[in-house]
Amino acid sequence: MKKGFFLAITCLSILSSCNQAKEKMTKNTYTEESHSFAQPNEAVITHLDLDIDVDFDAQVISGTATYDIVNNAASQIILDSKFLNINEVTADGEATTFELGKMDEILGQSLTIAIQKDTQKIAVTYNTTSQTEALQWLTAQQTADKTNPFLFTQGQAILTRTWIPIQDSPQIRFTYNATVKVPSNLMAVMSAENPKEKTTNGKYHFKMEQPIPAYLIALAVGDIEYKTISDRTGVYAENSMLEKAHEEFSDMEKMVVAAENLYGAYDWEQFDVIVLPPSFPFGGMENPRLTFATPTVIAGDKSLTSLVAHELAHSWSGNLVTNATWNDFWLNEGFTVYFETRIMEALYGKERANMLALIGRQDLEDELESLKDRPNDTKLKLDLKGRNPDDGMNSIAYDKGYLFLRTLEEKVGREQMDAFLKSYFKKNAFSTTNTEDFVTYLNANLLEKNNITFNTEEWIYEPGIPDNAAVIESDAFSNVEKTLQSFIDTDKIDVAATSQWTPQEWVHFIRNFPEDMTIEQLQELDNSFNFTVSTNSYINMVWYEQSIRHGYHGNNVDNKIAEFLNSVGRRWYVTTLYKAFKRAGRTDEAIAIYKTARPNYHSVTANTIDELLGVS
Ligand code: BES
Ligand code: ZN
Repeated sequence: MKKGFFLAITCLSILSSCNQAKEKMTKNTYTEESHSFAQPNEAVITHLDLDIDVDFDAQVISGTATYDIVNNAASQIILDSKFLNINEVTADGEATTFELGKMDEILGQSLTIAIQKDTQKIAVTYNTTSQTEALQWLTAQQTADKTNPFLFTQGQAILTRTWIPIQDSPQIRFTYNATVKVPSNLMAVMSAENPKEKTTNGKYHFKMEQPIPAYLIALAVGDIEYKTISDRTGVYAENSMLEKAHEEFSDMEKMVVAAENLYGAYDWEQFDVIVLPPSFPFGGMENPRLTFATPTVIAGDKSLTSLVAHELAHSWSGNLVTNATWNDFWLNEGFTVYFETRIMEALYGKERANMLALIGRQDLEDELESLKDRPNDTKLKLDLKGRNPDDGMNSIAYDKGYLFLRTLEEKVGREQMDAFLKSYFKKNAFSTTNTEDFVTYLNANLLEKNNITFNTEEWIYEPGIPDNAAVIESDAFSNVEKTLQSFIDTDKIDVAATSQWTPQEWVHFIRNFPEDMTIEQLQELDNSFNFTVSTNSYINMVWYEQSIRHGYHGNNVDNKIAEFLNSVGRRWYVTTLYKAFKRAGRTDEAIAIYKTARPNYHSVTANTIDELLGVS
């Protein structure tokens, strides 16, 4: 009786997330989770009020995180915390005791807070430390405009706990408000309702009214400006990048429309992209309402904007319907690659979509090769207990996940596939799902209903690629392969045949150089097409990879590679290049470059490369 009364009061202001939390708790439906200390079936957060100060001189965020909680008459609530100083904790306004558990290298520490059976609010006063993994503090030199410092956060997968003490599980959703104080010449933006202009006093207020998991809380602070694309889309960037970004992403509204036509209304009101400094460790990150993006996608010709389609697609697969645990990560990424490819097809046609799909297909083959001694890691459903969730974040989730859905689409037909996906998103909106529940839903609503047999279990729970995988074809790529073969056979390149090639065709051409390609051949291609000084970062990356692999040193390419690795922190790009050095037996050169480049990298990139090169 008493419990019900308190739940009702707690939940009045934040109906949707609270109802869900209540419903989940009464059914005890939060599943076992190995990457969070939280015990949400006892007590779970439903709303966060964040009040913080961003101090660039000290490189510290400090303040108070206040939570509304749904309390199952518990005597404690457990949050996740890593490398944070916890200064004071209150429960319903009264000081209370707390304890930080033993430090786990991957998970950090549990923060156990004593509460009363009827406690409704807790508040934690804390500050970040120099060991924080989510934050990257950049000097002015590391930005595009080079006049002001910059800060951004990266939460996925389990880094939010290094800048906010929180229940850091993808199953736990909450709404948030934030007040953020920054130096008055800078602007702050979050994965929330955002300002379009700077305030005079550096104080910013944010609201995220849709419940989200902790990994999607994000903050960026810098000397940035906003430019509108449509009523609900636009870009944030530093001054020198703003126009370029606006041009590059001018199809953003069309992408949102195409996505809505496929799988239902966009539920987050605004869709903006912020172009970050080049050290941003990912291509993009789907922070709700505000995708974070690398400047390396700005090629001047919209050729790499499938990244925006990808992050937009996460507004459904990932942000609306979230993987319950990191073992189900393929539900986020595989669905998103499928959806991304459909958006690209809707905007630019089947040929472009198939080229993207084939590039992914080749990435998948490379990944299978690199995981050949770890077949369990090639299953869609993973078991990452005791491991860093980052270990599962490779091409399997993305490209095997995609291939599964594409194969399924070919089996059931597009119309049925789309109706099914639409209903799947609707049913699970603002909630989480795991692989097993997805399989049950798929069987009931698509396969059994239509009397279709499909080897879903094999695709999801077995290693490798099943025999029935869809065969993806592209005339454009077949043509590229022919041109490459004829160059190899004759040493003559048919320049006219390549004059209309898109960057994807060039990437396919370069990636498929055979082992015995000669230095002279590389030199001739470089002289004809200027790959070393290409302004397309994807072409740069694959060309530098081949240059390293074949020991090509023409046109000053070694300096260009070093320059690239010193400025770009995108993990996928730099990992590819350091790996190429290692494979070519040039690890010493890689280490020499890394020595100067490492201070420019975000922790997720630095950790990966530390391990790859065996240094730190
Ligand atoms: N959510 C991911 C980025 C991510 C994955 C961050 C795992 C932390 C852990 C994002 O949506 C993504 O997939 N980015 C890709 C872009 C893409 C077009 C495949 C990237 O960064 O390369
Ligand atoms: Zn993604």
